[in-house]
Amino acid sequence: MEKKIKSIDDLMSIADLDPRHHTGEIIGSMTTSIHPRVFDVIAKFIEKNQNDHVLFPSLSVIEEELISETKRILGLSEDISGVITSGGTESNILALYAFKKTFSSRTVISLESAHQSISKAAALLELNIVKVKTNDDGYYNPDELQGILARYPNSVLVLTMGTTEIGRVDPITPIIDSIRKYHIHVHIDGAMGGFTYPFTNPKEFGKYVELVNEGLASFSTDYHKFPGAPIPSSVLFLNSMLEDKLKWNSHYMPAGYQKGLLGTRPGYSAAGALATLLLKGRDGLAYSAIRSYNLALETMNTLQSNWNLSIPRPDVPLLCVGLGEEELVSRAWSFLWSYGIKTYFCSKPPGLRIVFMPHIKKKHIDRFINKLLEFFEQGSREYHER
Ligand SMILES: Cc1ncc(COP(=O)(O)O)c(C=O)c1O
Repeated sequence: MEKKIKSIDDLMSIADLDPRHHTGEIIGSMTTSIHPRVFDVIAKFIEKNQNDHVLFPSLSVIEEELISETKRILGLSEDISGVITSGGTESNILALYAFKKTFSSRTVISLESAHQSISKAAALLELNIVKVKTNDDGYYNPDELQGILARYPNSVLVLTMGTTEIGRVDPITPIIDSIRKYHIHVHIDGAMGGFTYPFTNPKEFGKYVELVNEGLASFSTDYHKFPGAPIPSSVLFLNSMLEDKLKWNSHYMPAGYQKGLLGTRPGYSAAGALATLLLKGRDGLAYSAIRSYNLALETMNTLQSNWNLSIPRPDVPLLCVGLGEEELVSRAWSFLWSYGIKTYFCSKPPGLRIVFMPHIKKKHIDRFINKLLEFFEQGSREYHER
């Protein structure tokens, strides 16, 4: 194989192979543009280990401020501990581990719409996993779930704030009594919705916050998703008794311990996340979340009313545009990608996933809709003629 990268110039120019955010090409991924000033911050911390606060005291200050600023933005109590992690997957694994270690929970109850990292965590931690069905709109059946909670007291229930494929926030109200009655430990996976739902539906969000503040639930959210911090960057909030389980002795380190799954943890991530929060502020984050969510609903209405497409109404800025048959979905996907419209997939209904990240503007959506229509006119005709 001929070497494609022989110099640093080659290495720099190969980045041009990738689509860009600001052009609206990246329309299906949960990644977004980074504020230009954050790049300078990254450079200051790129060589530093977040897991070594003794050697790098600045990172201890940054971690403290990042955690407290996030709690202030989300309305979490000061008593709740925060652990910096590399992303939604690490946060989910750590949350389930902490519950297993603290309460000897052996079972995870998870909706089938949960992110695959929950199954991954259950496999790694050797937890029994009970999967609960959801309907076409991504909702569980409350009677069925209450029955399962009764059958598995002291288990961990995972609820998602913004499911990966259709953007559902799993409701808490119908099961709140069972959660208390059967001593269920709840983990709320807010990887995507943790920085949108608080602003688009503060009243409902308050119910999840109450549970976390009472120490009955853990909650994770990703800075590297909607807020637009550098990858990898997430945080897990949980009560301090659980946080202790996430510290491991590390004799050779000056602090004597390390937190989380990684040994060496990128210092620039926490610094970049804090910079992002400072630059956007609570108002900026709220503005972005509301704007993106409104654009998602407006797009849903346009697609539904004009072309009768099946699209579950989301709770976070994300749409699963149902196209019906798998093969049609895959042809539509190839067609759109050939025009630089990089959508993802969703399966229930089979369709294309669009994520309304902060860089997505109305003109990008118009382009997506126009090309989808062109596909319906050309591609689907070919498909049916084959
Ligand atoms: C709901 C949810 N949880 C967890 C994750 C995993 O996050 P990460 O890729 O940062 O590990 C995702 C990723 O899309 C997600 O949508």
